[in-house]
Amino acid sequence: MRNKRNATIALVLGTVAVLVGTWLLLRGATSLETFPLNTLNPQGRKAEDIFSLLLKVVVIAGIIFLLVEVGVLWMVNRFRAGEDDVEGEDEPVQVHGNTGLEVGWTIVPAVILAVLAVFNANTILRMDDVSDDAIEVTVVGQQWWWEYRYDLDSDGAVDIITATQLVMPEGRDVELSIQSRDVIHSFWIPALNGKKDAVPGRTHNLVLQADQPGIYQGQCTEFCGLSHGVMRMQVKVLPAAEYEEWVDIMTTPPEQPTEEAAIAGQELFVQQCSSCHQVNGLEPGAEAPFEYAEMPDPDYGVTVDSPLTSKNAPNLTHLMMRDTFAGSLLKLYEGGPAADADSREASVVPAGEPNINNLRSWLRDPASVKPMNPENGQGMPNLGLSEQQIDQLVAYLLTLK
Ligand code: CUA
Repeated sequence: MRNKRNATIALVLGTVAVLVGTWLLLRGATSLETFPLNTLNPQGRKAEDIFSLLLKVVVIAGIIFLLVEVGVLWMVNRFRAGEDDVEGEDEPVQVHGNTGLEVGWTIVPAVILAVLAVFNANTILRMDDVSDDAIEVTVVGQQWWWEYRYDLDSDGAVDIITATQLVMPEGRDVELSIQSRDVIHSFWIPALNGKKDAVPGRTHNLVLQADQPGIYQGQCTEFCGLSHGVMRMQVKVLPAAEYEEWVDIMTTPPEQPTEEAAIAGQELFVQQCSSCHQVNGLEPGAEAPFEYAEMPDPDYGVTVDSPLTSKNAPNLTHLMMRDTFAGSLLKLYEGGPAADADSREASVVPAGEPNINNLRSWLRDPASVKPMNPENGQGMPNLGLSEQQIDQLVAYLLTLK
């Protein structure tokens, strides 16, 4: 009798431990600040669809789990050998080859899987839904950052090219066409939708929609070389009116530099940086006075003699409109939202003072900040800049807003 009771107690305790452990795990994983990269805290309709599918599966699986546990407990009690049972004589009834049972445990799981398949197919179909007023953005992955190309009026011409941080209005659909310039990457903003691979030579679509303003973190999820682990991205969601403000700023050239250091920095930028990085209108070999262009050149880097394999580096025309840089590894502003945590703070122009130290250390030796292989055309080379040149370039970059 004691053995029976001990086994029952062990099973009950084991079941409780599994349930409590699962609950603790889920509770920790859904904390927005500490674990931004989780799918259990959906912030938009696509992510909500996926989450609700997960819930259905978990509920069905949970019911099966409980039924099996209760069955096990019951069988342990009911069929365990008693103290006065005789070995070899008091055997339970043998049911091997029982047709009814075998048909039953084949059909019941098949029905359960069929029900799950209906939920699955329904969710997969819903993933393709996109509203007519969706904003079209081409996303290009490359070693090791993400580029965003906005075609605002759907005329096939690119109106805004930016990097690292995708900006979108709250509530509205954004339809991404995801591509890659070099190897396979994978685009993933868990709060807003599932993953989608960026494959060279192919275009994959993904729809994002966010219910409320904020900054949502993402991470490349396909191993793509040295800095794969820090190939991050962010989505900044703004109220509709602020998004329009952002578009106005992004489609208006920045003010020309007026300070001496910044003017020198612009000259240096044209000489040293412009063969990879575009500031709309500045071309390598151009002479002062420099003029900004209204529109980005989508072929930039391909048409200039760029040493980069993928023939492009982030467009820096409105660099200071981003909260982070270097593939979202570094904060561009002090005091702003952390580079690796979701946040409810999102403003058109990032809040706080520019993080000069981060910009300086990046320019001083990029590969010491983030693993890269510039000799092989992957990532930013060390240009061997003097401290004075670094100061001038930083002064210029700060004017790009
Ligand atoms: Cu890009 Cu991993």
